[in-house]
Amino acid sequence: MVALLFVCAYLLGAIPFSLVVAKARGVDLRAHGSGNAGATNAMRVMGRGPGALVFILDFLKGLVATVALPILVLGEGAPVWTMVVAGAVAMLGHVVTVWGALFFGGWKGGKGVATGAGMLTGLVPIAVLAGLLVFVVTVASTRLVSLGSILAATTIPATLIVQQFVLGRTFATAIWVFALAVPLFIVWTHRDNVRRLVTGTEAKVSDPA
Ligand code: G3P
Repeated sequence: MVALLFVCAYLLGAIPFSLVVAKARGVDLRAHGSGNAGATNAMRVMGRGPGALVFILDFLKGLVATVALPILVLGEGAPVWTMVVAGAVAMLGHVVTVWGALFFGGWKGGKGVATGAGMLTGLVPIAVLAGLLVFVVTVASTRLVSLGSILAATTIPATLIVQQFVLGRTFATAIWVFALAVPLFIVWTHRDNVRRLVTGTEAKVSDPA
């Protein structure tokens, strides 16, 4: 049953909503803007409405894979580690997508930010709020979404450290492992952005596609 949960989580996370929304508008998202199959590039190429729609759908698949799927497949008492792994697998599915390979000509999906945010909202909502704050402040001041995403991801374990070691709240080991892995994973999916950030060539959110 646990294997079934992870397969379902992968197949859900792998739905490339950005490519679906773009295709419905006759756009090949991978050929425009940053070429990324994610909400930021959807907004860059198609505007705020489609960008917001993609963000919500990508966010929801992370949340559903983490909270609803484990209960649906394993029942009410689904262990926390199964929720963490299901969410992580959905995030991986978003980045390496079998549906993309089957219907959109390639395995390359998005960078996992919206799906990861949905996943983490189901597990550590306070840390997500802190990450959101860091994201908003960073993007408002620099206009660089990628930098905001990386700093927001780093905020997740930093917030858990404060919550556990200062405020006395305890988190399951699986949550710690995932929270510590998230910034590394996000830096890896943003490795091209990091190169552009270092060379000062990263596109700002206000730049034309
Ligand atoms: O969530 C992806 C974002 O952080 C960067 O997207 O299109 O600018 O590479 P993009």
